[in-house]
Amino acid sequence: MFSLIHFLLSLFLILHLTPQPVTCWRPWPTTQTNLTDTPTDLQFGPSKKFEGSSDFVDLKYHMGPVMTTNITVHIIWYGTWHSSQKRIIREFINSISDDSVPPPSVSGWWKTVQLYTDQTGSNISRTVKIGSEKNDRFYSHGKSLTRLSVQSVIKSFITAKTKPLPITPKNGIYLLLTSPEVYVQDFCQQVCGFHYFTFPSIVGYTLPYAWVGNSAKLCPGVCGYPFAVPTYIPGLKPVKAPNGDIGVEGMISVIAHEIAELVTNPLVNAWYAGKDPIAPVEIADLCEGIYGTGGGGSYTGQMLEGRDGATFNVNGIRRRFLIQWVWNHVVNYCTGPNALDQ
Ligand SMILES: *[C@@H]1O[C@H](CO)[C@@H](O)[C@H](O)[C@H]1NC(C)=O
Ligand SMILES: *[C@@H]1O[C@H](CO)[C@@H](O)[C@H](O)[C@H]1NC(C)=O
Ligand SMILES: *[C@@H]1O[C@H](CO)[C@@H](O)[C@H](O)[C@H]1NC(C)=O
Repeated sequence: MFSLIHFLLSLFLILHLTPQPVTCWRPWPTTQTNLTDTPTDLQFGPSKKFEGSSDFVDLKYHMGPVMTTNITVHIIWYGTWHSSQKRIIREFINSISDDSVPPPSVSGWWKTVQLYTDQTGSNISRTVKIGSEKNDRFYSHGKSLTRLSVQSVIKSFITAKTKPLPITPKNGIYLLLTSPEVYVQDFCQQVCGFHYFTFPSIVGYTLPYAWVGNSAKLCPGVCGYPFAVPTYIPGLKPVKAPNGDIGVEGMISVIAHEIAELVTNPLVNAWYAGKDPIAPVEIADLCEGIYGTGGGGSYTGQMLEGRDGATFNVNGIRRRFLIQWVWNHVVNYCTGPNALDQ
């Protein structure tokens, strides 16, 4: 079943020549901007246990593999990156399995992801580590990438003559991060990031990968939300980014989103909702725009505010982050470590 779906999916994507990686992050739910105006929100009342909860969410396990052994994230820094920006992103990824950080923590957020299992009952690994890192300072594939050229970038690093990226199909995540000058197909209009797997016909292997773009120049109001807001929505105010870099901190929540989905659905045949494997709704899609208790519609939910006025919801190594919640299939709603009732 797994190889059949996999095969059909690859075939579909190759035949159509415009593969749509199906696992994209959309900026926020397209609902009202005023919570008190919406009858659906009112229905749940102020003490709702709501955060995305619905009897209609049919998240299911489709028998494919998930990442149950120590997860390694290989990073490709595409374009121009400052060391301070790299540090924020590295510290976020390293925070995922650091239990020494006080709650609410990034590792507390990962606990929801760990609730997912495979056919054998093995949980998602608690350990996520950075593996190899590569720089592509001179935009080897240009400043405008397509979904297919993203795979070619990955190929060029796993086949590099010197220090190629290791081939780790079972527990490796190939994370391509593009700097603000780089446009990637559908960036800003439809997606801020996506995950998928590479095609053997292009790359030589089936490797789970994710792309996340820095939106600072192209669309901070879309992909850097809520640190920047779109001008066409009146009355919406941006919040202050905890590390002072809207582009990078917008990326952090998208990286969190993509990693959570990738490990629970690396070959797009494991955990997703909806009947269509071409357009699955995954564990982070179900909680888009929800950062705290009460979140839903266009309301972010209760977040935390630092003394410096910055908004965050989790502590990490040396710094704070704001990351969206993910779907908890045990209780059937979105959960996060900063929930008020924990
Ligand atoms: C939301 O709606 C309420 C009631 O209609 C109104 O008093 C309030 O000003 C609105 N808030 C925003 C941000 O539009
Ligand atoms: C997985 O990571 C843990 C925690 O860092 C470590 O103790 C363990 O040895 C690792 N296991 C393997 C198989 O590498
Ligand atoms: C593993 O998943 C099961 C089922 O969701 C859950 O009950 C259990 O707490 C999880 N274990 C860990 C270590 O997260």
